[in-house]
Formats: sequence, structure tokens, C-alpha cells
Amino acid sequence: MMDAIQFQLNGTKTSYSGDAANRLLDVLRDTYEMTSVKCGCKEGECGACSVLIDGMLINSCCVAVGSVDGCNIVTLEGYRETKRFAALNKAFASTAAAQCGFCIPGMVLAAEALLSKIPHPTEAQIRDGLSGNLCRCTGYNAIVNAVHLAAKGGNGLW
Ligand code: FES
Ligand code: FES
Repeated sequence: MMDAIQFQLNGTKTSYSGDAANRLLDVLRDTYEMTSVKCGCKEGECGACSVLIDGMLINSCCVAVGSVDGCNIVTLEGYRETKRFAALNKAFASTAAAQCGFCIPGMVLAAEALLSKIPHPTEAQIRDGLSGNLCRCTGYNAIVNAVHLAAKGGNGLW
């Protein structure tokens, strides 16, 4: 029998003893009830299933849970406890950047991945950083403005 797969999930030591070939997306939603991780396409195209794995933005639909052994996984459920989330949340609210909301958990984690590398990005860098995340509602401009505002308002957080 295979050893259980061990990882940190939002700061909690977690052990998964199911099939290592299961999609991380399905495991996060079905086993750990991390329903901020959305299932859009299951083909790596939409970014709705984005999570941070060791700080990198990853489409969890394209990852077998067996490959995250020893990794640190953050979903929006964990990230929303941070000051950085508070800055992004305020900025998204003040620019009305969320409409249906389906893409927003992934967008927020994409913004975190971007700002942790580039604390004061240009518009082009923001658009590039969000380019793997699709939004069917907003036309993107409000989301780009939100990230710009968070970068300004959250000075020192990233
Ligand atoms: S559900 Fe993973 S990229 Fe669309
Ligand atoms: S707000 Fe609806 S998909 Fe982005």
C-alpha cells in the first residue's frame, strides 16, 4: 500500500490516502471542501481552479494530487485570512471588479502571485499576470484597476 500523501493545506498539515492520480482540483473540493477552487474547464484553459503551490500560481485541474507531496498549498480559504487579501478585497470592492464572482478566487490568487514578484506592476505586467485567468463578465478593466489600486494601497504588504 502507498504511503499517504502529505502536504500543507492553508497552513494545516494534511494527509491524503486516496488515489495519487486524482486531480488536485477534485480532491480540494470534494475531500477538503475548498469550494473557492472552481471547476471551469478541467483543461488548464480558464484559471478558475488556480491555487498557490509553494507560492506559484497553478491550475489545480492539471495536477495529480500525488505530485504535491511535501508542498505548501494555499487556496482562497487560507489566503483570505491575510492582510494582503484585505487590501485586494478592498480594491476589488471599490472598483466593482467582481460580477458573478466565479473567476474571482483565481483572479485574487493570480494577483497575489504577481504582486509577490512585482509589488508595483505596470498595467501591461498586470494584464500579463492575469492572462491565464478568464472572466466572462467584467471585460477585465475593473480587475486590472483593482490590482493596480491594491498595489498602491497595500504599500509595504508585498
Ligand atoms: S478548471 Fe482548471 S484551468 Fe479551467
Ligand atoms: S466576474 Fe463572472 S466570470 Fe469573472
